Amino acid sequence: KVKLEDAMLQRRVARNCKELHEKYQVYDDLYYLNSSRGVLYQMFCDMTTAGGGWTLVASVHENNMYGKCTLGDRWSNQQGSDPNRPDGEGTWADTVTFGTAESSTSDDYKNPGYYDIAAQDVSVWHVPNNIDLEQWSASSILRYHTENHFLNLYGGNLFYLFKKFPVRFALGACLTDNGPAIPIVYDTGNVDYNKNLYGPNSRQILTPGFIAFRVFNTEGAAMALCSGVKPTACHTEHFCIGGGGHFPEATPRQCGDFTSFDWDGYGTNKGWSASKEITEAAVLLFYR
Ligand code: G3P
Ligand code: CA
Ligand code: CA
Repeated sequence: KVKLEDAMLQRRVARNCKELHEKYQVYDDLYYLNSSRGVLYQMFCDMTTAGGGWTLVASVHENNMYGKCTLGDRWSNQQGSDPNRPDGEGTWADTVTFGTAESSTSDDYKNPGYYDIAAQDVSVWHVPNNIDLEQWSASSILRYHTENHFLNLYGGNLFYLFKKFPVRFALGACLTDNGPAIPIVYDTGNVDYNKNLYGPNSRQILTPGFIAFRVFNTEGAAMALCSGVKPTACHTEHFCIGGGGHFPEATPRQCGDFTSFDWDGYGTNKGWSASKEITEAAVLLFYR
C-alpha cells in the first residue's frame, strides 16, 4: 500500500498553475491544488498560452437567456431584479464556490482559487457551451489575456478587485465611477472580430482591445466585466456581463448573467443584440 502521507503529498504540490508550471513538466489538464488554508481542489491549467501557467478559477455561463434573474444567474441575481438586493448574489466578492472545472462550459463555476490565488494577470476564453475540456482551447471563439500585471494594484485577484469596486446597484454613475479598463492581447480573434460579436448599436459605444471592470449603465445598474471591450457610453447592459441585483430599465428584462444581450432578439446581432456565438459561449476566467 502507498503511504497515506505520500498520496496526499502528491496532491499538494502547488497553490496555482503558475507554480506547477515552474516546478514540473506539465501540460494542459486538470490538477489538484491546495489553497492557503489547505483546501484541496481540482482545477484546469492552461500551460500553453503566452508561456503557460494559467489557472482556471471561474466561468460565467448563461443557462437561459430568457430567464431574467432566475435560477442559474449566479453571477447576478437568482431572485429577480430587486432594488432591495443591490448586490444580487454577491458572487464577485464572496467565497461561495460552485460547479466543477469539467462542467464549466455547461454551468457556472467558481473555485477557491478565485479568492485565494495571488495573481497579476487574467486570461479569458469564450468557449461554446457544452464543449468538452479537451476541445476548449481549439473551439474558443475568442481568447485574450492581460500583460501589464494590473492585479498587483487591486489586491492580487478579482475577489479583491471587486471588494474595491463592488458590483452593486446604484453605488455610482455611468462612466465617472466605472472601475479599471485594462488593455488586452488577443490569443484567438482580434479587435474587429471581438467588436462584431456585439450588436451594431453597441459597437458605437465601445472600444475593443480592453477588459473593463465594474461598470454602471444609465440607470445605475452595475455590471462586473465587459469582455474584450471598454464602454464609451452608458447602455453597457448589451455587452457587459455579471451584475448586481437590480436593472431598472424595463425591469427585469436586462437582469441576468448575460444581462441584456437579447434586447433586440435572441442572438440576432441586430440593434443592441449580441451574436448567437457569444450568447451561447461560457466565459472562462483564468489567473496568472
Ligand atoms: O439600451 C437600449 C435602450 O435603453 C433603448 O433601447 O430599443 O429604445 O433603442 P431602444
Ligand atoms: Ca449562470
Ligand atoms: Ca439602456
